[in-house]
Order: sequence, then C-alpha cells, then structure tokens
Amino acid sequence: MRITIKVALGHVPLAHRHWKALGLFEHGRMENLAYARRVWDNHAGALLHCQGTPTKRLLELGPGEGGFTIGHALAAGFETVCLVDVQRLFEPAAYLTPEALALCGATLPPDLARSRVRYQTGGLPCLRGQASDAFDLVFSNTVLQHVRRAEVPAHLRELFRITRPGGVGSHRVDFRDMLGGSLNNLRIGSGLWERDWFARSGFYTNRLRHSELIGGFRAAGFEILKDGVDLFDGCPEAARHRCREFRGLTEEDLRVKGCNLVVRKPLASAPPRR
Ligand SMILES: C[S@@+](CC[C@H](N)C(=O)[O-])C[C@H]1O[C@@H](n2cnc3c(N)ncnc32)[C@H](O)[C@@H]1O
Repeated sequence: MRITIKVALGHVPLAHRHWKALGLFEHGRMENLAYARRVWDNHAGALLHCQGTPTKRLLELGPGEGGFTIGHALAAGFETVCLVDVQRLFEPAAYLTPEALALCGATLPPDLARSRVRYQTGGLPCLRGQASDAFDLVFSNTVLQHVRRAEVPAHLRELFRITRPGGVGSHRVDFRDMLGGSLNNLRIGSGLWERDWFARSGFYTNRLRHSELIGGFRAAGFEILKDGVDLFDGCPEAARHRCREFRGLTEEDLRVKGCNLVVRKPLASAPPRR
C-alpha cells in the first residue's frame, strides 16, 4: 500500500520545493547548520588515516539540500572543494557569502572562496571528468545506497581513481528502506524495482547489503580501515517476507541497518579487479 502511494506521488509533476514544504521526498538535511556540522566532524575524522601530504582537496558525493560543507572545508584549510550530485538542490552562492562562511568559521574573502569551490550535478559523468588522484578526502553521507545498483561498481572504481594514493574515503551508508526504516524493500523483485520509472519514484535504494558493499570497495582497490556497523535489534520482521532473490542473504547481513566506513587507497596500489 505504502509503495503504491509513493510511486503515485513520485510521478506528480510538482517542483522539489513544494514537496519539501510538505515534508516529502527530502534529500537529507544539509541545509541545517548543526546537522551539516555533525556530518563534517564525522567524515573529517577520516583525515587521521591519510598517508602522505597534502590534505587539501575534498570531494563530497551527494551533498543533497545544502552546501555548508563548503564553509566547513574552507575553514579547515581545504583548497579544492568539489560537490557532486545528480540534481541541483541548492545555490552554492548562498553558502559563499561572508555571513554563511562565518557560520562555519571560514574567514576567506568570498572571491577566493568561490575560486576554490565547484558544484556539479551530473553524477557519474562528473566523477569521470575529475583528474586521477585529484582528492585527498572523498566523503558521502547516506548517498551510496541511492546509487543505481548496476552503477555502483563504476562509482566505486571512479572514487578509487580520483582518490590520491594514501588518500581516504569516508562513507555513511543507510541500509534501511525508505518506507518506514525497515527492510520492506526486499519484498519486491528486481524486475520491477530496477525499472527506471519505478526507481524514479523517490524512494529508490539499491538494496545492496553491507557485505556486498564492502566487497565492492575491496574490488575497486580500497583497503577497509574502519567499519562501524549499527544493527537492528534482531532480524526485522519485514525481512522474513523477502522475495526469492534475497533468500540467500545471511541473518548477519540482514541485521545491519547502517555503517560508517573509512577506506583508503593504498600508497602502492595493484590495479583494481574488473
Ligand atoms: C539521502 S540524500 C543525502 C544528502 C546529504 N548527504 C545528507 O546527508 O543530508 C542522498 C543524496 O544523494 C544524491 N545522489 C543519489 N545518487 C547519486 C549519485 N549517483 N551521485 C551523486 N549523488 C547522488 C541525491 O541526489 C541526494 O542529494
């Protein structure tokens, strides 16, 4: 029932700001300074694991509704701040005013700040457009589960290519469904779930499980430095109704509702497995 309603609503041609006003189809909360600060503190901690210098170039994948990462990164001394999404959800200029920068503790002249920031909204082709070894830190916050399943390996390969040897990635991933925070999304077969019109309904998640994602990072060439998991209390009832293609999932995987991953591109890296 919930899925039917969401699919129907997802195809009503209403501008994003109207859905947002209704509290529907929001893309995170990065327009909220306190939330953005917590996200920054969480991911900037990964810099401790960087090897070599410099640590001046940052890419955030999927910033969502706001650009406070800009001020936080500039305040921390980053000289390149690249934000890549698949849709334009805010105006970067609003985060480059002296007032907005000051809220994050950045005191650069706005012109200099502007010259250090890029906001691109073309998704994977934008990642492909970045130079190899271009970033010291790459982070994403509840984004990777929204990347289309078939495109996840290509995204991870690109993240690997654009991270410099010794550079790090920090990724918060939410494995719950967007239908109530459980695993009801596993009830539907991929034949329907992966159709473009269905995936565009505003609640798409790729349904990769924790172990599959870890395997994907390793296959791309990353080493896993930290893997902090949050667990459901027991296996969610919804998982018992999962469709056949998900029957082989282990209870251990089904219990993981989120994780904080820190990954690193080895200093001397073997070519990633294809
Ligand atoms: C749940 S929101 C999270 C936003 C923000 N990171 C936060 O924590 O509030 C997911 C974001 O990922 C973006 N996204 C989805 N697929 C993406 C992709 N392939 N590349 C870049 N961004 C993507 C969406 O457009 C959206 O802005």
